[in-house]
Amino acid sequence: MTKAVLLMGSPRGRKSTSNAVCIYLQEIFEKNGLESQDPIFIRNHVATEEKMNDMLVAIDQADIIVLVAPLYDDTSPAIVTRTMEAMAKNSSKYANKRFLPIINSGFPEPFHITEIAIPIYHKFATSLGLHWTGSLALGGGEAMRGSIGKLLNESGGFGKKVMKALDRVVESFVTNSDFGDEALEIFSLKIYYNRVMRKFMLWINNRSWKKTAKKNGGQVDARPYST
Ligand SMILES: Cc1cc2nc3c(=O)[nH]c(=O)nc-3n(C[C@H](O)[C@H](O)[C@H](O)COP(=O)(O)O)c2cc1C
Repeated sequence: MTKAVLLMGSPRGRKSTSNAVCIYLQEIFEKNGLESQDPIFIRNHVATEEKMNDMLVAIDQADIIVLVAPLYDDTSPAIVTRTMEAMAKNSSKYANKRFLPIINSGFPEPFHITEIAIPIYHKFATSLGLHWTGSLALGGGEAMRGSIGKLLNESGGFGKKVMKALDRVVESFVTNSDFGDEALEIFSLKIYYNRVMRKFMLWINNRSWKKTAKKNGGQVDARPYST
């Protein structure tokens, strides 16, 4: 039986978009006859060598490795980077394992994920000999409200869009084909690209910054270095 491991890379833990994605994936892994266990919370495995080794053993035993993580500063959270470094030092052979990262970002445009983070994950995978089966970039991850503990099926149309993409990911595993690199914009900010809306939003934001500054005794219009 094909074994899949889910690496949950959000430092937020249980209440995160990454965890909501993992919970749905685990459910459909089982429905599709893939063997999988509860998602491994990376944050619980980076503090000691012993715990890191436990995670490496689980990775070694899997045929498919799915990393689900948020985008941090255009790349991976530190705990994910630590895991990648530990995997790189691990003497295991990764050649027959399939790897697929699913990354969600705060900004809605998935290019925030695909421009830098995905190429880094790709380089990591290929340098370890993992088989790059594809990637899924989810722009606007906060829309799914994983941070307040919502599951994908509780996130309306946004969640449905993501579930459909995850169904296709699992189908590719089952049919032993490559998923390819896909990017989803969960919600769009295009309405704000309009000149009037842009002006309005700038006005609202500036007003709010000025109010907050005033409340805290700050001077937003100060020019201390202008003379
Ligand atoms: C330290 C930090 C850095 C972040 N950097 C980015 C970023 O560079 N681009 C972006 O779009 N979102 C960024 N975000 C937002 C997260 O990617 C976003 O909130 C995501 O939905 C969190 O997913 P999670 O619930 O799975 O942790 C950052 C968040 C944090 C806390």
